[in-house]
Amino acid sequence: MDKEKSQTLSLLYSERDIQIVIEVLAKQISLDYEGKEVVLVCNLKGAFMFFSDLCKRLSFNPEIDFMITSSYQGTTESSGEVEIIKDLHTPIKGKHVLIVEDIVDTGLTYAFVKKHLGLHDPASIKIASLLDKPSQRLVDITVDYKGFFINNQFVVGYGMDYEGYYRNLPYVAILSEKGI
Ligand code: IMP
Repeated sequence: MDKEKSQTLSLLYSERDIQIVIEVLAKQISLDYEGKEVVLVCNLKGAFMFFSDLCKRLSFNPEIDFMITSSYQGTTESSGEVEIIKDLHTPIKGKHVLIVEDIVDTGLTYAFVKKHLGLHDPASIKIASLLDKPSQRLVDITVDYKGFFINNQFVVGYGMDYEGYYRNLPYVAILSEKGI
């Protein structure tokens, strides 16, 4: 990390706030998907903590797989281009796919992934995102399950990074930096 930059973090959602919201989301998702064949997709890297905490609270037994997509590349603004670095291995034809994301910002990542997975004929594709930043949306998408709405702020922690750092924080914080 550039030592010259001064970055400050202000707490936005504590560990406890996050766990309470995940409990509510897990109950709703369990009700909606019980009895169905479900593939739960973790979109790495940012979703890893949310995915793990959500999975543990579900009342049904989904298949689990991981994707890696990239759109930011070391900045605080979306490049608008989404790249699939690692695709799913699990067949999804006829199954219900639930994509788990850390945050939906422009919506470009989810729109791209949904279109891509849609080519494999799943029974449905939905998304669960811990955070939703609707003010930045560039495409018309529905975030089916969301934890918190946030304003146009850049956040880190609980899986989310800035230039690869801060993912390990157990809470969500607003990052400010000279020049951001
Ligand atoms: P979108 O394609 O613009 O919706 O962006 C989705 C991805 O951008 C998320 O999965 C995050 O990895 C990243 N992202 C968007 N906003 C933030 C933020 O405030 N902090 C950290 N990562 C973010």
